[in-house]
Amino acid sequence: MKDTLHAAPLKIGETTIDAEHELQMQLLDSLTEALERGGDFSPTRYVLEQFIEFSDMHFLSEQLVMRLHGYPGYETHLEEHTRLMKKAREIREDVFRGEKAPSLQLIHELRDWLLHHIATEDVAFGEFLKKQEGQSS
Ligand SMILES: [Fe+2]
Ligand SMILES: [Fe+2]
Repeated sequence: MKDTLHAAPLKIGETTIDAEHELQMQLLDSLTEALERGGDFSPTRYVLEQFIEFSDMHFLSEQLVMRLHGYPGYETHLEEHTRLMKKAREIREDVFRGEKAPSLQLIHELRDWLLHHIATEDVAFGEFLKKQEGQSS
């Protein structure tokens, strides 16, 4: 598995969305660090809850911007967000059961998945927005 820890997400060219992506990655890095430290699970739980809450908010706002702009890739994009959050909630179940190792593996996968999603689907949406702005000005 390639080590993507601390790899920065690609920019999509939308300031708010880009800042939110940075924060998503920072939360996943903190989560990995908390898991690697081991011991007490409360920091892990806390960061994971923050990641889930923040990602729910980020995905909803991204979807809202897509609907406002009549983005044709909306449905497929929504499915990807839903799949990611399902995985994040499964990881939360593991953490609550106190299983360290599978959670760490899952978080690496989650991080790779999210970086890939940003670099492909989110970047495609950023390009769509840029094209729309070009047409309206
Ligand atoms: Fe997205
Ligand atoms: Fe995103």
